[in-house]
Amino acid sequence: MGTKITGIGVYIPRKVLTNFDLERMVDTSDEWITTRTGIKERRIEENLSVSQMGVKASLEALKEANLKPQEIDTTIVATLTPQMVFPSTATLLQGQLGTSGYAFDISAACSGFIYGLHLANSLLKTKNSRRVLLVGAERISQIVNWKDRSTCVLFGDGAGAVVLENSDSDSEIISSVMYSDGNWEILYCEWCDYLKMKGREVFKRAVINMAKACHEVLERANLKPENVDLVIPHQANVRIINSLMEKLGIPKERVYINIQRYGNTSAASIPIALYEARKEGRLKRGMLVLLTAMGGGLTWGATLLRF
Ligand code: ACO
Repeated sequence: MGTKITGIGVYIPRKVLTNFDLERMVDTSDEWITTRTGIKERRIEENLSVSQMGVKASLEALKEANLKPQEIDTTIVATLTPQMVFPSTATLLQGQLGTSGYAFDISAACSGFIYGLHLANSLLKTKNSRRVLLVGAERISQIVNWKDRSTCVLFGDGAGAVVLENSDSDSEIISSVMYSDGNWEILYCEWCDYLKMKGREVFKRAVINMAKACHEVLERANLKPENVDLVIPHQANVRIINSLMEKLGIPKERVYINIQRYGNTSAASIPIALYEARKEGRLKRGMLVLLTAMGGGLTWGATLLRF
């Protein structure tokens, strides 16, 4: 019995902020942003709260899974932009959606969705849950300093959700790992302040940590990088992704990238990428898929799954 993703949904905010728009806000250029990050535009949410964004993505995921909200017994929201100090964004979402059981947040920054998959898999395998709704939802535009060109060009808003259930089919989470090291000073946001980041330091550690985690999940499953059909990494910077693929020795044709449209949406980036990769025909049932992320904390991890 394995853990299968039975539904995926997204919520993409309508407002587009292009690199050319940013040229009018800070001393930057489309050329700098494109060559250093791969980002061309990002979405900005102007009206909905983080939980409302999550609800929209969840409804789509539930529809595909053919489930009613009450049939979900575990609701998890991964976010670095929680709606309130407390309660959790997951309980706010639960209140609107009507899911059963219990709800809680994961605070693992950009690795939140990878942490969520690891936890959901454990809960399902130990029969502490029967059906899990895992949401990554972010309004990073609210904690970005729009006068700081070194950070404001990188991030965007959005939400993605998946439903996870036990299944007898070949689809399953094969292996997963999650890590943290307490090196929080290179990427953080204090109460009522803006996001702060040492970009180069984050870059270096992202490549090293994600590559290590990817090798580990493959080794645990007795598989090799050449067996992987598709890599869906956290979308932080196209150069980080390219260096990661080189380190893994997997050809670039086997990576999915949509950062050009959304920038870094933190915990929402992998579910949004999963959704779009499938829509574009890049992700198909039966494929061996490798997911990985690194974020503030530092936190990182990887998931190997048979989709
Ligand atoms: N436009 C124009 N110039 C800029 C901009 C900008 N938006 N931002 C910085 N610069 C300038 C700097 O001021 C610096 O100028 P100087 O040489 O005169 O001092 C120059 O560009 C080079 O700056 P660096 O920071 O050294 O540029 P680098 O090549 O490292 O790229 C970047 C910066 C894009 C932030 C890169 O380090 C990066 O992507 N790091 C990872 C950050 C990240 O992804 N964070 C997300 C959270 S963690 C995660 O998701 C993995």
